[in-house]
Amino acid sequence: MTFDNLLIERDGPVAILTINRPKVLNALNTQTLDELRRALLELGDDASVRAIVLTGAGDKAFVAGADINELAVQSPTGGREMAMRGQHIFDSIERMGKPVIAAINGYALGGGCELAMACTIRLAADTAKLGQPEINLGIVPGYAGTQRLPRLVGKGRALELLLTGDQITAQEAHRIGLVNRVVAAADLMKEARALASTLAAKAPIAIRYILDAVQAGLEMPFPEAQTLEATLFGLVASTEDMREGTKAFLEKRRAAFQGR
Ligand code: COA
Repeated sequence: MTFDNLLIERDGPVAILTINRPKVLNALNTQTLDELRRALLELGDDASVRAIVLTGAGDKAFVAGADINELAVQSPTGGREMAMRGQHIFDSIERMGKPVIAAINGYALGGGCELAMACTIRLAADTAKLGQPEINLGIVPGYAGTQRLPRLVGKGRALELLLTGDQITAQEAHRIGLVNRVVAAADLMKEARALASTLAAKAPIAIRYILDAVQAGLEMPFPEAQTLEATLFGLVASTEDMREGTKAFLEKRRAAFQGR
């Protein structure tokens, strides 16, 4: 996999995916989004990759949003297509069946905040700033910010952020539930890699089913979501990993999961 605007590094079962346009604070243009789509597809298909860390190049930005040069010249039909394409790519993060940890190393604004919200878990450097500033450009979020933000932080807080366009600190983002954890900027990648390694050692099929149960279940009526959970609970009982996990506990040793 070679890309102009992405870097991919492997660290055992963990892949580190870095958006690499630091001169424009890693803004997402069409090419970068397309590269992200291809990279996610390949990392999703690669069974040796068990967890992914997503971050931005440099120490200033995770992603400072969609590329405003492209936004400035978009047409109504082009804008709709651009939003749908981006939504689809971000959805693929939630559907890939592997944990994706956003390591928010600086500005996560607009599409950058939306990208982080599509990830499984968000770690933020104490220097990070988050927000949905689209309103200040006279536009609305187009990569599901109006949907994921209220689901994460509640309707009132989401509306305040969406309507003011204000940037908030990592600490405030943590207080309202937008990020899981705030860490010293110098420790961010170490912490993100450590968390990814922890998740990479878990049973991959159980990880996938938990992701599916939460993701799909939240969009379903509660009784149906419980049925989905019960079905997955039954399915996972067919795995070697379940036998290994329960046996290892009873034998007082660490389980070695194979993803089977
Ligand atoms: N799209 C395109 N270019 C962007 C960009 C974006 N979303 N965000 C930053 N850049 C570019 C700037 O134009 C600048 O380019 P230049 O060096 O050619 O002038 C470069 O990145 C550095 O940004 P700059 O604004 O000089 O840095 P700053 O530290 O003064 O401010 C921000 C940082 C993040 C506050 C500011 O860049 C900003 O507000 N960016 C836009 C955020 C936004 O509205 N995103 C949502 C888009 S939907």
